[in-house]
Amino acid sequence: KTKVEKINKNQINTDIIEEAGKILKEGGLVAFPTETVYGLGADALNEEAAKKIYEAKGRPSDNPLIVHVADLEALDGITASIPSCTKKIAEAYWPGPLTMIFEKNDRVPYGTTGGLETVAVRMPDHDVARALIRAGGGYIAAPSANTSGRPSPTKASHVKEDLDGRIEMIIDGGDSKIGVESTILDMTVFPPMILRPGAVTREMLEELIGDVDVDKTLISSDSKLAPKAPGMKYRHYAPKADLTVVEGSTEAVVAEINRMAAEKIREGFQVGIIGTKETVDRYQAGDIKSIGTREDERTIASHLYGILREFDDDEVNYIFSEAFAGEGIGSAIMNRLLKAAGHRVIRV
Ligand code: TXA
Ligand code: MG
Repeated sequence: KTKVEKINKNQINTDIIEEAGKILKEGGLVAFPTETVYGLGADALNEEAAKKIYEAKGRPSDNPLIVHVADLEALDGITASIPSCTKKIAEAYWPGPLTMIFEKNDRVPYGTTGGLETVAVRMPDHDVARALIRAGGGYIAAPSANTSGRPSPTKASHVKEDLDGRIEMIIDGGDSKIGVESTILDMTVFPPMILRPGAVTREMLEELIGDVDVDKTLISSDSKLAPKAPGMKYRHYAPKADLTVVEGSTEAVVAEINRMAAEKIREGFQVGIIGTKETVDRYQAGDIKSIGTREDERTIASHLYGILREFDDDEVNYIFSEAFAGEGIGSAIMNRLLKAAGHRVIRV
């Protein structure tokens, strides 16, 4: 059965960390908090352990895992070569919501990299996560701790909903601060290329190292282009409801969402609305939720997955959501929202 252990970030219980570390070293699975989303950890250098992650999540085996480390020295232990600007980026954004991809060395099994010659590496900005990584041997493979196809978990209760009984332990470290997954930066090409937008933005990276490319499939809605991060090709999260994103001026968006919601309610459907602190009072009917404030889009990122899960639980048939800015953390929010919507966008 899955054991759930609460840990206070400011007063880490080392007995629990040791017990969890032992589970990992013996090839078991432990879900743990990070600043982005909860991760499902296994020993990254143990092919059998990595395999269990795919089984527990129901994840396609060609979708590679991110290896989590607790210090910069660990990087040399699993990579064949790293470009010279790596240190600069790591010093600025590690620990933090940034994953970098490098050529792997022989220690990293293909079972962890989905058969690729490259390995994705991240150092999470979370004391509990880093303590666990150290206790578990230093290299912990960890995808988001959700069932494949569900929103990533930002609370221990989300992990329990999806994986109870399938993993040895869940460490409950409270809510994830950021709420969307890390930025993925491919360091094996020049200039480096963003394969998944996150809290570390293109602008932040360019300020540091100059030109940074962005995988074209992230900006184009042409679904025939194959994204470079294998995981990005899957419709990450297929909500039970039909989700539509509405773009335009605030006035027009509110009016159109009210019109569409009323129409669906008249037809007998349950409708969910994703508004913001600035607009919630102006929606008329349906299950209306405020996702955060536009004054600080980080509040929006941190509530996104939780709200999508609530709508799943409430079994709404249609969700209408406002759109968000395409810059800063907004580009990560829109990337995840558009994927959940299957790219259904209305411009008004
Ligand atoms: O914030 C995060 O990154 C979270 C927390 C737990 O650290 N983890 C996470 O893992 O989001 P996951 O497995 O849900 O997403 C990993 C993504 C997938 O899209 C995968 O295809 C891509 O990273 N990826 C991993 N290794 C790769 C590689 N060698 N080349 C290209 N893409 C890679
Ligand atoms: Mg994931």
